[in-house]
Amino acid sequence: MMNSNDLRMVAEALAMQESWQVGKVLDRKYELTRPLSSKPVANSYLATELETGDSVVLRRCPPGAERGSLEREWEALEACKGDCVQEALSLYPATGFLSLTFYPNATPLIDLTPEQVDAFPILLPKILKALSHCHKAGWIHGDIKPSNVLWDHDSNSIRLIDFGAAMPIGLSRKNLASWHMSTGFSPESQSSGEGAAHPSDDWFALIRWIRQLDNIDVSETSRHNLDRTLAWLSTQM
Ligand SMILES: Nc1ncnc2c1ncn2[C@@H]1O[C@H](COP(=O)(O)OP(=O)(O)O)[C@@H](O)[C@H]1O
Ligand SMILES: [Mg+2]
Repeated sequence: MMNSNDLRMVAEALAMQESWQVGKVLDRKYELTRPLSSKPVANSYLATELETGDSVVLRRCPPGAERGSLEREWEALEACKGDCVQEALSLYPATGFLSLTFYPNATPLIDLTPEQVDAFPILLPKILKALSHCHKAGWIHGDIKPSNVLWDHDSNSIRLIDFGAAMPIGLSRKNLASWHMSTGFSPESQSSGEGAAHPSDDWFALIRWIRQLDNIDVSETSRHNLDRTLAWLSTQM
């Protein structure tokens, strides 16, 4: 049985689906080319900038997201700017989306074929570095998984994408809805760190990812590198 809250979510999802369709023009500036996410209601689209013909990525908030979450994503991308992070272009707060650089020669690590799996341990140090970079900037990525890390084959570099779950380090998830006008949290909730975003959230996600390769055939060198990384990660928890 669906309750009224479920119904509201379904209605919202349908409205979201309706509002972004291939061919739709946003702010007279972009035309949606194709959905990028495989989710039933895509929040990431490839789009064409009408004036230049350039391809960009447009992202909006998922249905049911709390207010200010797009602004938070934008703020995270701005704070974490760098070679290893998805470049943000513009925020459109009125329409509720942001534009990002599209990387045509990159593929997410979820698309690694079994033959390419030995590339992962080589990319791992770059992923660690990218995450450290974000942590030093004061943010956790919050959703580390193979579909959210792009691999550029030409330069053999990686880029973190999808900052939809990024959080300022130390922020309690309970204060989410109101974080933007945060007037300071109580010292006790802060020191107890209850539900607060912490770099170990990202490291933990990475450990889970590496563990998925436990039963997969990789070269001896790769296994050695994976084990070494796991040993280091366990010191960060
Ligand atoms: N800037 C980009 N360049 C190239 N491909 C991208 C880019 N951003 C996203 N993608 C592709 O689209 C997929 C979904 O994008 P993502 O931003 O993670 O959306 P979602 O919120 O649906 O997970 C990624 O896994 C990747 O394959
Ligand atoms: Mg994603």
